[in-house]
Amino acid sequence: MKRLHGKHILLGITGGIAAYKSAELTRRLRDAGADVRVVMTRAATEFVTALTFQALSGNPVHTALLDESAEAGMGHIELARWADAILIAPASANFIAKLTQGRADDLLSTLCLATESPLAFAPSMNRAMWGDLATQANCKALQKRGYFQFGPESGEQACGENGEGRMMEVPDLINKLASCFESGELQALNVIITAGPTFEPIDPVRFIGNRSSGRMGFAMAQAAREAGAAVTLISGPTHLGTPDAVTRIDVETAEQMHEAVFDHLKHCDIFIAAAAVADYKPATTYEQKLKKDHDSLTLQLERNKDILYDVAHSKMRPFVVGFAAETEQLEENALKKLQKKNLDMIAANRVGKNIAEKQDIGFNSEYNALQVFWPEGQASLELARKDSLARQLIHLIASRYQQKKQHEKNTA
Ligand code: PMT
Repeated sequence: MKRLHGKHILLGITGGIAAYKSAELTRRLRDAGADVRVVMTRAATEFVTALTFQALSGNPVHTALLDESAEAGMGHIELARWADAILIAPASANFIAKLTQGRADDLLSTLCLATESPLAFAPSMNRAMWGDLATQANCKALQKRGYFQFGPESGEQACGENGEGRMMEVPDLINKLASCFESGELQALNVIITAGPTFEPIDPVRFIGNRSSGRMGFAMAQAAREAGAAVTLISGPTHLGTPDAVTRIDVETAEQMHEAVFDHLKHCDIFIAAAAVADYKPATTYEQKLKKDHDSLTLQLERNKDILYDVAHSKMRPFVVGFAAETEQLEENALKKLQKKNLDMIAANRVGKNIAEKQDIGFNSEYNALQVFWPEGQASLELARKDSLARQLIHLIASRYQQKKQHEKNTA
């Protein structure tokens, strides 16, 4: 189940006999490569101990909203941000009612309000409680809000009755959860993404490079893939593994990246330039290692071709998205690049040291924050992990792409 690999899953457990099945669910989520954190309501701890889930998830279990030690470690807002998805299994009738009302009187209900990630719930209760009009109305309301409902199933119940209300079986829950990450928004489209740094050789052992880790571009590749696109990832040197079902082409220099992009541009629908491409390269690459014979050394540099500019001005022009890495005047500089490079969209991130936020963001960090501009508008994507940001940005790109296509159709 590669689709859950590396995903942060927050498993919420509420009070119900099916809580014992959540132990197996925790194991299977981890087998699928997910990082699992468990949050239990007080009622859930009456059925299974927190220790069980701590052992199975390999992480501390969270049970209280106002717990000083937990807040000092990973507080409830950080926990909500951490989650790529929240799965509540089992979801009791009472908890479903609470969710519907938007109450926040314990840790799990608070996290459900605070999260911006997909939220799924697996109802589990007696068949009469499930059939009750109030429960039915609550579930409909949650589905309408975009929450995913998994199950319930029919069969023998713990109370001895037979009917609908059993929690969905673990393998099915895992399959359903994995499909929450597949939006299909870029179905049947070809997307090229550049990522990472470029290394411009000075001699056989030295080069001019930068601090890009490739994380942002790789996260974009994974998110585009999950949105249904066929993705070609053209990457400078990084240590990152290739996202599942993504075609990867490794390059070293800006020139090689330029060539690889143009080799694949013919069938490209969307081009996303997340790479930190060196603007300049040494005018001469020495064949032998340079000797330190002099007190100083001057390197002559010459401009590299601008890949993004060239794609946006090519005959095969796809929908073009750039990034802008800025240390100052973020908006002004990003808007200049949007116009000068003839882009459909630009995602600007602040890089460098003077960040007011707690985490370092931008280059070589797990986190980022983006200010996105397009000719008619803009959006802020708040500080979040790069994979979560990438999903938000892909969603934005997909909707702008569709609007542009619609506009072209209307004016044709
Ligand atoms: O890799 P990470 O550690 O995760 O860091 C992510 C990131 C900070 C590198 C990424 O979010 C980012 O901002 N990438 C673009 C960095 C950059 O080179 O920005 P720029 O403002 O110098 O360039 C503007 C745009 O032109 C970029 O889309 C860049 O890819 C493109 N460009 C630049 C020069 C060039 N010769 N060819 C290009 O295509």
